[in-house]
Amino acid sequence: MKESSTIIYTKANKAAWDASAHLHAQGRSWDELLQAASHPDFNVLDDCLTATLTHLGLAGRNAVQIGCNNARELLSLAALGFKPSLGIDQSSRFLAQGAELASKTKLNPRLLEANIYQLPTGLGRYDLALITIGVINWMPDLQGFFKAVRGLVSKGGRLVIYETHPILEVFDPAGTNPFLPEMSYFDKSPVKIEEAITYDGTSGGAGETGYWFVHTLGDIVTACVGNGFQIQRLEEHAHSNREEEYAIYENQSGQLPLCYTLVAQAV
Ligand SMILES: C[S@@+](CC[C@H](N)C(=O)[O-])C[C@H]1O[C@@H](n2cnc3c(N)ncnc32)[C@H](O)[C@@H]1O
Repeated sequence: MKESSTIIYTKANKAAWDASAHLHAQGRSWDELLQAASHPDFNVLDDCLTATLTHLGLAGRNAVQIGCNNARELLSLAALGFKPSLGIDQSSRFLAQGAELASKTKLNPRLLEANIYQLPTGLGRYDLALITIGVINWMPDLQGFFKAVRGLVSKGGRLVIYETHPILEVFDPAGTNPFLPEMSYFDKSPVKIEEAITYDGTSGGAGETGYWFVHTLGDIVTACVGNGFQIQRLEEHAHSNREEEYAIYENQSGQLPLCYTLVAQAV
């Protein structure tokens, strides 16, 4: 059977993430993360996301993270009173790092290697589904994505998204004028990523080609409510939660929104 474009793009993205994984499990920051994970109050989540999650009143409930990467955020949920039960990611190499991190804790979440568009059946339902920084732009199809996410959440359970703001996609922080829009907010064509994926602005050299998709905030909200969620809060923030190079957009007199929190209830 012919593969859909969604599967073709997401397979390429899996290869891109797997090929970059070794760059994230080396050096001082990885050693410090392993060491920090052994503390019972281990929490890498920033103050903004920590406040959102603690105010949900879901302490003691189970949680799934979609696009959990090396599970550092999933494991952090324990310090906020959640049961980090399931982490889903299609990169086996990042999940192997997640297993190493988990081994430093007293936690034993299931770390499942799966493409969100091809989830196995019988994964159960969770009171909290968490999606954070840098997941949604790897998704070619928002409707299919939110449908899959809804299938993981119990009725009445919450979805929390803490993501980078799509308006940032029109700017290039490394461009000649980083404040000048360089591409259309409405351009739906996939953006080829050919460099290895790093978070700290350093070049990891050439990587496997991955595909990045720009979704407007309107498209994200529409796909969310169209797939069984009722939005309870959508807040845009003036701080940046993405790579260090985006810090130049903070503290401006003409301030852009730099990230957002969306809290929705499964209906
Ligand atoms: C930027 S990382 C998330 C990082 C995380 N927010 C953190 O700070 O630790 C995005 C993750 O989404 C995963 N991913 C991308 N597309 C996916 C898909 N179709 N199914 C499952 N996981 C996917 C990637 O493998 C990667 O680990």
